[in-house]
Amino acid sequence: MAMIAKNCVDSKVTVVDLNQDRIDSWNSDDLPIYEPGLLEVVKAARGRNLFFSTEIDQTIQDSDIIFISVNTPTKDYGSGKGRAADLRFVESCARNIAKVGGGNKIVVEKSTVPVRTAQMVKEILSESNNGFSYQVLSNPEFLAEGTAIADLENPDRVLIGGDQSKEGLEAIEKVVSLYNQWIDRENIITTNLWSSELSKLTANAFLAQRISSINAISALCEATGADVDEVANAIGTDSRIGPKFLKSSVGFGGSCFQKDILNLSYLCQHFGLPEVAEYWDQVVRMNDYQKDRFVQRIMDAMFNTVSGKKIAILGFAFKKDTNDARESPAIAVCSRLLEERAHLAIYDPQVPKDTILSSLRLDANDKRVSFHDCATDAANGTHAIALLTEWDEFKKLNLKEIYAEMEKPAHFFDGRNLIDPIEVQNAGFRLHRIGKG
Ligand code: UDX
Repeated sequence: MAMIAKNCVDSKVTVVDLNQDRIDSWNSDDLPIYEPGLLEVVKAARGRNLFFSTEIDQTIQDSDIIFISVNTPTKDYGSGKGRAADLRFVESCARNIAKVGGGNKIVVEKSTVPVRTAQMVKEILSESNNGFSYQVLSNPEFLAEGTAIADLENPDRVLIGGDQSKEGLEAIEKVVSLYNQWIDRENIITTNLWSSELSKLTANAFLAQRISSINAISALCEATGADVDEVANAIGTDSRIGPKFLKSSVGFGGSCFQKDILNLSYLCQHFGLPEVAEYWDQVVRMNDYQKDRFVQRIMDAMFNTVSGKKIAILGFAFKKDTNDARESPAIAVCSRLLEERAHLAIYDPQVPKDTILSSLRLDANDKRVSFHDCATDAANGTHAIALLTEWDEFKKLNLKEIYAEMEKPAHFFDGRNLIDPIEVQNAGFRLHRIGKG
């Protein structure tokens, strides 16, 4: 919304939320999320045509276009628990819009939703009998965290789906005209509603599938002496395959991939397609296997036990340049190591201690974990380092100095194949990398 406000100076954009603290943060220089470049974009438009407010009803009333951008987490209760998307926040937005009224409106699903969610939104709006008419559109978001600003400034495409009726097509064109103020028309794709909703889930499923595919190959590389980065490079130069999203890692994380695949698979089950559901489930299973395998490798290298040993965890975010730890592979790795009675010395440049504690379901007094202000401090006195997030600063570690202060033999488990292997080995470490013998 900040990017729309920045580029569409004739439109007034108001972002509303129930949470006063969060709105206060958006109105300050201390934004509630860490995203490089975001503060500059917000500052360019805030107070001019970008506003943050808790006045939800008034804003609904005054708006021509409403983007529903709420959370759609995996359900943690009732039917579909652990798989289906929880749509109660989308539904309550739709009900609120219907209640408030205030004129004919375009309602845009920005949240990632299962196919046919728009039907529910349409029914709630059309049966409200408040005298106004609504067009429901789907406009899924494809930005990735950490690169959000560049992704929004210059997206591969913008996708807008809507009814193919005259009114639906007019509504689509209205939203196209917003994006068209900074994005070429040929990069704005328009489709019917269901294709747009399904494309978002499909895009994430395909991206995650590529990572699980290369991670599956990484296991074979470790067993055979092939090198996964060399394999990725060799296949990625085939223009039909392409080079992106072939970086083998300790596993994918983030709030989207797992959630969306589970949701896709749940939908397939719902529509009587168990074979399709099983096909996609395997992508998540392979990801779990990759995280388990990483821990197993740590165990194998450390004489089959980490009990009472201290391991430095470098990076807790699910990827670099974000303070987001949702579904981070670090959660599974750290939890398993704690089960094996290891002690963890954790450092992440951006993820707050409280987030790490709650992700690991630990309380603040737990003596098995300690938190540090830098990698060198975290590694001090440990038996091993597990690098789990590819933060740039980890490329500049003083490895010799770190090695000197560690227990021997000192292990370095590089879960991102980030660090120059020669430097790590020259410093004295036993090095273990993903997909390398
Ligand atoms: C993803 C999609 O990329 C984005 O289009 C969608 O809108 C939201 O979900 P995001 O989760 O922010 O974005 O990050 P992404 O860059 O896709 O990375 C997801 C996970 O995959 C991270 O844990 C990352 O480390 C991992 N990854 C990514 C790999 O392990 N290897 C790769 O080659 C790429």
